[in-house]
Amino acid sequence: MKLLVIGSGGREHALAWKLARSPRISRVLVAPGNAGTAREDGLVNAPAASIPEWLELARREAAAFTVVGPEAPLADGVVDAFQAAGLKIFGPTQAAARLESSKQFAKSFMQRHGIPTADHGSFSAAAPAHEYVERHGAPIVIKADGLAAGKGVVVAMSAGEAHAAVDGMLVEKSMGAAGQRVVIEQYLDGEEASFIVLADGRHALALATTQDHKRLLDGDRGPNTGGMGAYSPAPVVTPAVHARVMREVIQPALAGMEQDGTPYSGFLYAGLMISRDGKIKVLEFNCRMGDPETQPILMRLKSDLVGLIEHALAGTLDRVEAEWDRRIALGVVLAAHGYPDAPRKGDAIHGLPAPEEDCHVFHAGTALNGRDVVVNGGRVLTVTALGGNLNAAQRRAYEVAERIRFEGMQFRRDIGHRALAASRK
Ligand code: AMP
Ligand code: GLY
Repeated sequence: MKLLVIGSGGREHALAWKLARSPRISRVLVAPGNAGTAREDGLVNAPAASIPEWLELARREAAAFTVVGPEAPLADGVVDAFQAAGLKIFGPTQAAARLESSKQFAKSFMQRHGIPTADHGSFSAAAPAHEYVERHGAPIVIKADGLAAGKGVVVAMSAGEAHAAVDGMLVEKSMGAAGQRVVIEQYLDGEEASFIVLADGRHALALATTQDHKRLLDGDRGPNTGGMGAYSPAPVVTPAVHARVMREVIQPALAGMEQDGTPYSGFLYAGLMISRDGKIKVLEFNCRMGDPETQPILMRLKSDLVGLIEHALAGTLDRVEAEWDRRIALGVVLAAHGYPDAPRKGDAIHGLPAPEEDCHVFHAGTALNGRDVVVNGGRVLTVTALGGNLNAAQRRAYEVAERIRFEGMQFRRDIGHRALAASRK
């Protein structure tokens, strides 16, 4: 049986790697893929990068089903196109993907269905947006409405910063179409966690919890990035918090989407803020898995991912459970020179290790140049390791990371710091 994975990042390398480990799978096509998916056993890259090309590829290769990695094809309607052609695909339809592709849609959806989230206002004109900032004061958060590749959020610690962000998006149009409308919301304090489920339209199967590190530099300083590292599980999601997230967020979200006529099937990612007293609020929904969260999650998944997705496609997720490795998984992102503003491409990568049972280097922005692996994007690799405790996982990941070399390589040295601090308390 063959499968197709759409995308070219670290998340897609991990998804394809895990799917290919199923004894039922002969080959996983990755379109377009990267140097890591080109070199991994059981994976084959295919040069397809648009909806018509993916459709053609899935038909030609008779893929049993397709899994979509990134949000852009989902927002563009890849699932609708495959379903119209009678092909199996795992992901939300274009209408359901609005949970990520429009912040305004997500906020009013949450309000309508009683899902806890920060109070907000939504504006397409600057004057009322400035008034809202004046009325509420700082700290306050300004978000571009549309997809902005993780760059559309300004957490303003002063009113001046908030006004400047409003002008940047609504007047100077710094985010283009994504920032024609802004959502301004209450600043929330607490600890973040990523809570991702498989959804089949009605039922949800929770994946292991994770915590991402969004800032570029150690100690959570520097600019926001797509994510510089992640580990699983996230201790902040205690069993009580977990039950609460399922009850207050995931179940009402699936019921609400069904009630609104756009049932949600696919990976659903709730970005949560968890306060000291265990209250949860949703920061955002994503209609896909996280990157780099996927890498540690899938290192820990013992069940066959093919079987789980088949249950999701059949609407029978209530009949399965996922089995997890009890070890901790921790992934460290190695980023290119100049990331996140202007990543430099072309630097040759040295010291890539062979995969081992407890450590796998997933590729993201890499390409093959002859036999060399070279940098081809901002986040280049995620070194992901398993360990009996967080210290051991961290030590193993950094031991491998330190052996990899390319010009200008940047990485954080403190991935896992929150969980380590929590375990010392
Ligand atoms: P988002 O894309 O909505 O997840 O926002 C990106 C990052 O901005 C989040 O991971 C948080 O670190 C931060 N953020 C977003 N919304 C808020 C909020 N209401 N309060 C505090 N921080 C926020
Ligand atoms: N790592 C954050 C995300 O995938 O949205």
